Amino acid sequence: MAGQRIGVVTTGGDAPGLNAVIRAIVKAAYQSETEPEIRGYRDGMEGVMERRWLRLTPDSIKGILPRAGTMLGAGTRVNPFNVGGVDQSELAMQELRELDVLMILGGNGSMALGHALHTRYGLPVIGIPKTIDNDVVGTDMTFGFDSAVMAATEAIDRLHATAEAHHRVFVVETMGRDVGWIALYAGIGGGADVILMPEVPFSIDRVAETIRWRDASGRRFTIVVVAEGARPREGEPCYSMEGERRRYGGIATWLAGQLSARVDQDVRPIQLGHIQRGVEPTARDRRLATALGAHAVELARDGHAGCMVALRGNQITKVPLDEVQGVRRVTPDDPLYRTGISIGISYCGQPVEGR
Ligand code: F6P
Repeated sequence: MAGQRIGVVTTGGDAPGLNAVIRAIVKAAYQSETEPEIRGYRDGMEGVMERRWLRLTPDSIKGILPRAGTMLGAGTRVNPFNVGGVDQSELAMQELRELDVLMILGGNGSMALGHALHTRYGLPVIGIPKTIDNDVVGTDMTFGFDSAVMAATEAIDRLHATAEAHHRVFVVETMGRDVGWIALYAGIGGGADVILMPEVPFSIDRVAETIRWRDASGRRFTIVVVAEGARPREGEPCYSMEGERRRYGGIATWLAGQLSARVDQDVRPIQLGHIQRGVEPTARDRRLATALGAHAVELARDGHAGCMVALRGNQITKVPLDEVQGVRRVTPDDPLYRTGISIGISYCGQPVEGR
């Protein structure tokens, strides 16, 4: 009997831990008595549409565990249900029908795509939640997030020396799209004084007041961490449009300008950008990625599909893809959010529910 034919596709942006998942899938699948055929699609869904894939074997994955990025290439632009306004999912299915299971490594959009392929065509799909943003519903954490937080935390650490020496204000912009997880975790880990997130529209005057109050009470520097998707109470977030997709970036520069007009200190913006994404995965991300990949193979072997592997509490489990909808945001009852309040971090606004 031939072994399972497994497709692996990494959709959306790269994230630390993708290689660790690919490796885990291959290693786990090769534990079968029958040799599997694992197709690793090049450049995301583009590789599926163009039938460009690489056969993944234990030899091809040697040494990839600690590497950032993805050995397969990533693709953010191709959605087979909408290629320049045309539904080309049937074309994708010409390739995908040959598979016993498709494993999609991606974020919210990718899980929705997997769900659509599963419901429309009955394709056996297993999702594996990936993104530095940590915004996938149904899992407590995505792989990639911990590494991005570590990178941002280290960057904030490095700013403290100059901030203290020159009595400066640094406004540090983290990634995260529409959610504030990276800002919250790195802000607390890096000792920020102010953390601004999309979930809590902020008052510029309150940020300025906090800086002035710190200065007056002898703390003559301030570290403000701002998520790229954060917005002032009376305004919009900073983004440009890339097709139908928002490209965030620039809030630190904008906010530093606003603050400079309100405080006496020198205010400098720092946009961390992709520096957060290109790091070697942390030990935690490697373990999470490996556990998710291995569990996906077990599920496929047992005939499960239409689900996403997930971390819930300390368990690796599965959730139906139709429950993976919306965006997982920071909420006021989040334990770390509350910790921030307990230690006097200022969020400079009130959380907005249901955004
Ligand atoms: O979703 C991950 C992420 O890094 C976001 O935090 C960020 O807004 C976006 O991707 C950047 O995407 P790109 O690299 O395509 O500009």
